[in-house]
Amino acid sequence: MPIISKEVINDIQSKANIVDIISAYVSLEKRGKNYFGLCPFHNDVNNPSFCVNEEKKIYTCFSCHKSGNVFGFIQERENVSFIEAVKIVGDKIGYELDIQIQETSKFERHFEAVELANRFYQNNLKSADGKEARKYLTDRGINEEIIDEFEIGFAPKSNDTVTKLLLNKEFDENVLLESGLSNRSSNLYDTFRNRVTFPIHNDRGRVVGFSARIYQKIDEAKYINTRETPIFKKGEILFNYHRAQGEARKNKYLLVVEGQMDAIRIYASGIKNVVATMGTALTNDHINLLKKLNVKIILCMDNDSAGEKATIANGEIISNANIPLGILRITGAKDPDEYLLNNSVEAFEDAIKNAITFFDFKLNYLKRDKNLKKVDDVSTYINQVLRELNKSSDDILVNLTINQLSEEYGIDKNILLNKIIKVETKKVAPIKDTYKKTINKVQKYCEIIIYYMLNDIKYIKLYEQELSYLPDDLYNEIANDILAFYIKYNYISIADFITYEIEGPRYDDVLRIVDSLITNELDDQEYIVLIGKIKTMIDEQKINELKEKLKTISDINEKLKITNEIANIKKRMCE
Ligand code: UTP
Ligand code: MN
Repeated sequence: MPIISKEVINDIQSKANIVDIISAYVSLEKRGKNYFGLCPFHNDVNNPSFCVNEEKKIYTCFSCHKSGNVFGFIQERENVSFIEAVKIVGDKIGYELDIQIQETSKFERHFEAVELANRFYQNNLKSADGKEARKYLTDRGINEEIIDEFEIGFAPKSNDTVTKLLLNKEFDENVLLESGLSNRSSNLYDTFRNRVTFPIHNDRGRVVGFSARIYQKIDEAKYINTRETPIFKKGEILFNYHRAQGEARKNKYLLVVEGQMDAIRIYASGIKNVVATMGTALTNDHINLLKKLNVKIILCMDNDSAGEKATIANGEIISNANIPLGILRITGAKDPDEYLLNNSVEAFEDAIKNAITFFDFKLNYLKRDKNLKKVDDVSTYINQVLRELNKSSDDILVNLTINQLSEEYGIDKNILLNKIIKVETKKVAPIKDTYKKTINKVQKYCEIIIYYMLNDIKYIKLYEQELSYLPDDLYNEIANDILAFYIKYNYISIADFITYEIEGPRYDDVLRIVDSLITNELDDQEYIVLIGKIKTMIDEQKINELKEKLKTISDINEKLKITNEIANIKKRMCE
């Protein structure tokens, strides 16, 4: 285990800007002193509850209560150890740390196996074995540059080349089976044989699986994909997401297409903010990936009836998640790939600019196959539109549409309006708050004192002078930890104190206190009043203890001594 000194850790933390670092993962918007965004740790669909404080160098989520400093964020987000998180933050700010990090992912061997297979497929495409596949790609207008960028490869024609290669490299049979690279009949054999391979990366850019295409006219499934594995979960992966995310934030929109070939073509034509769903419906996890970008989605499904259905289904999922959405329907080609082979990028860009709203798309969709000169078709159409309007929470849209329908078909507005029964927008169930600890008044006061102490050494000094003790064991220990930190380093910082406590027994409590009080403004007067209140509480506690003692004592001199003590405390309290 590599050791990094506390001084170096604190130095990295003080140099790292937590807002910059977290911005690479979450789109943040400044509100007052804090930055807000969608929490990456829970399904934060409604309102951004994730808050980053630049000055205090901490983050906290008001819904799921994950909080911590920059290292905690990286640990949680990248699923790494504390030391690794320090190294990652160090790397991001150009801080040279001379330590080797050993990977700790439970599935590291699976990742390695898939990576190795990927490299092998890539080389194999360039060998004699891949000659026909290369020709296929060239004929499709996939040049060398695209092949390299997307790491396109070729899975050998033989039965078990990759399986053998990996077994020779000491990979476990189980790893090969679990990573989806091999299957078992009597012996292990390769999952991907005689196909063009497209590696699929997770959102962090690691290869986790493949989509593999036939390249000859044969009667087999066009694509076969890696099955669900511990590292490849189709519902969590969007093809090209790791390359597209930065570009999407920059351009303020993300194009979502069906096929990876479409994504590749679009990307290669210079529009890099594109991902592919790989032919499946969007899942909740996909939506989270999209939400994180905080940009408009342009949905561009294939130009066929399946694509139309996918537009309705995916459009509904995206708009229900309150993500801004535009619909692009291409014409004159079956999919964006074919479109870009026959049209200019500029034409495609124009089409993106002219994307229509999801509502307009649905209206057009409902009009198809209807003869709107016929009364019953008009009636069906209007009823369908009203049903759509029912789902909308946009009053202006509802009104405009009603006006339009009324004019176009000569129907009384009131009749239309009466048919709209507003349905309540579904509320997301609140997260169960097992996090909040019920605390009594004394404990609440102690927490506030601790919070103040964490913010400024003047509060630590006042505490030392006026109290030096908190009437609750846990909080007293935390206050002592703060004093110890201050004596050792001669300053205080919430973020560094969190690091200081990280392996100790009070870490969670410190995080909880910071989390619950982070929005508190500091006010010297409030602090002094609180100290006074706690003093009184301590005194009252003492008096009660003495009174109890009094009951058990018979010696008159002892009794007198205790009564005097009580009187003294009472006197002090009145001062
Ligand atoms: P398409 O058939 O639209 O793919 O299926 P495409 O990108 O246009 O394929 P090309 O141009 O013929 O190469 C959309 C997506 O559905 C998945 C793939 O991920 C594909 O990109 N799919 C399709 C499969 O998984 N298996 C299949 O047999 C077909
Ligand atoms: Mn295609």
